[in-house]
Amino acid sequence: MACTGRTGTVREGSPRVDTFESQLEAGASADVSGWDFAWLEGRATEERPPWGYGRQLSQRLGTARASLDIQTGGGEVLAEAKRFPPTAVATESWPPNVAHASQLLHPRGVVVVADPDEPPLPFADGSFDLVTSRHPATIWWSEIARVLEPGGTYFAQHVGPASAFELIEFFVGPQPQARRGRDPHDEAAAARAAGLEVERLETARLRIEIFDIAAVVYLLRKVIWWVPDFTVERYRDRLRDLYDVIELRGSFVAHSTRHLIEARRPRAGR
Ligand SMILES: C[S@@+](CC[C@H](N)C(=O)[O-])C[C@H]1O[C@@H](n2cnc3c(N)ncnc32)[C@H](O)[C@@H]1O
Repeated sequence: MACTGRTGTVREGSPRVDTFESQLEAGASADVSGWDFAWLEGRATEERPPWGYGRQLSQRLGTARASLDIQTGGGEVLAEAKRFPPTAVATESWPPNVAHASQLLHPRGVVVVADPDEPPLPFADGSFDLVTSRHPATIWWSEIARVLEPGGTYFAQHVGPASAFELIEFFVGPQPQARRGRDPHDEAAAARAAGLEVERLETARLRIEIFDIAAVVYLLRKVIWWVPDFTVERYRDRLRDLYDVIELRGSFVAHSTRHLIEARRPRAGR
């Protein structure tokens, strides 16, 4: 989730014009395809990691020879890059996003490959000098190592442990086991076990602030991993409770976690 400053429908100091029911309706009827969160403008904010993944991604694509972006979603982040190497490919599994990404990236010369997020990646060994990924749902380190050429780099921003768990646990209760998942050090160890050298690992904990229930419904319909069995009807009572919390406090606060990881496939003979 990446949303910006607080503007739009929620105005400072004026009485709220929309009700619980109308907010539910707004969140339930919004289009959730693609992986762009602009719809949340004015309804939620999230701090950005300090390292500027998009900017660095663009710089690296500018000097690479052959790049692969794994699980590119709707292609929105990749499409922000200034220019692409002669060979540029992106994989995507979810059909609405395959269409979305192809529309956005094919005119930029990036080929979008529909791939079921299961190994093997549909590419030959050593095909790319740059492999990237932002917030992949699954990570196959041995496949990343295999498709990198010797000396090639994996540059990615991953979702960290217990990301947005204040919101998730509000709906599904405490998740002590899941809280331990996506640990950056475990991932670095898995990358090394796949033969990669981890050169950089930075972490960040980022404030999320949610100002209405429409944003919650939208998020839980879009980020399907958070509350997998989410429907407005099934969670109406908890949505009402959260609406009352926001009415009382003005917002609901959660935290996302992210880590930047850079790993290299050793050059031949090392
Ligand atoms: C969290 S998304 C990240 C997408 C992209 N890399 C980005 O950062 O904008 C990771 C993967 O989940 C897929 N995905 C998103 N929503 C989905 C859904 N409702 N069902 C199945 N896959 C979904 C995306 O298409 C993408 O391949």
